[in-house]
Amino acid sequence: MESQLPSEKTVSSKASNEEENSPKTPETYRKIISTLPREYGWKAHGDLCLYQNFWCFSYLIEGSMFAQDHYNAQPTDIFLCSVPKSGTTWLKALTFSIVTRTQFDNSTTPLLFQGPHNCLPLLEIDFYRKGMKPEPGTLPLVASHLPYSSLPKSVIDSGCKIVYVCREPKDAFVSAWHFTRKLPHGVEEPMSLEEAFELFCNGVSDFGPYWDHVLGFWKASLERPEKILFLKYEELMKKTVFYVKRTAEFMGYPFSLEEEKEGKIQSIVEFCSFEKLSNLEINKTGKYSEDIPVENKTLFRKGKVGDWKNYLTPEMAERLDGITKQQLGEFGLSFDAS
Ligand code: A3P
Repeated sequence: MESQLPSEKTVSSKASNEEENSPKTPETYRKIISTLPREYGWKAHGDLCLYQNFWCFSYLIEGSMFAQDHYNAQPTDIFLCSVPKSGTTWLKALTFSIVTRTQFDNSTTPLLFQGPHNCLPLLEIDFYRKGMKPEPGTLPLVASHLPYSSLPKSVIDSGCKIVYVCREPKDAFVSAWHFTRKLPHGVEEPMSLEEAFELFCNGVSDFGPYWDHVLGFWKASLERPEKILFLKYEELMKKTVFYVKRTAEFMGYPFSLEEEKEGKIQSIVEFCSFEKLSNLEINKTGKYSEDIPVENKTLFRKGKVGDWKNYLTPEMAERLDGITKQQLGEFGLSFDAS
């Protein structure tokens, strides 16, 4: 979906194809970023830049470029992909609990002391800023918000598995708007719901256009179902035990009959529930990192399906539903957050 939003702040990209395709240094990354089309609409972490046909905060593009140039995916990697506000925190907690369940139980899991986002690396940040390198034998999980077509080539070539979670667009939008309002804004007034809605509908949102992101992974999951598991937040909410079992099998960490009898799946589901996670001290008072001022508590708001009804007018809902139907309907993808 092309962004249709006209903007005075939009400048045309001068990055040449050569620069786009060759390995880059931090300086060349920044030079390219400085030429990208920009939007200041969401007033969150600075400008959103249009990079490879998706909108992204510039501080994440540098790490994305680095990952695209240098990340060497292994067949054993498991990528957790999503648009922010689609259930990433939940998916991270669940998958982390699944793969570490023989090392930890609910009284020893690192999730007690670290936010779910700090328990595993984010491709766009950690490999670039923190110098974290995948080593054999370490946790196989890596998170990313990149669209499918922008994942490092090695992720696709290695044949590693991808778990994608997405969310009904009206709820995803409302969640994103609330989240943005909780970020530190300095002297800036946070944006109104109406302003944010206009941007979202026009494709201008974090890692948007939203529908393009979802569609990229949806198509890939139809083409390579053994490699890409496509989950919906709403279904995960309805049948959590079923999808946790399925996700564990897909990732190559199936629950044994004994574990099932012992209630291991249920125990992980309960530990990773909104109620439990949001009430852990680390998620009430902790933050992502010193330089990225995202407080863990902003990642837990309501955790409900259908909260859009409390914020969107019938006209707004109809407009978003129309875009969803137009963009995704012909590919057999629909959502239910009624
Ligand atoms: P709401 O704003 O609708 O409450 P992400 O993790 O991708 O940023 O998504 C955040 C959304 O997931 C928020 O939605 C948040 O409340 C919800 N969420 C966080 N942890 C959850 C959990 N354990 N179970 C269900 N929803 C959760």
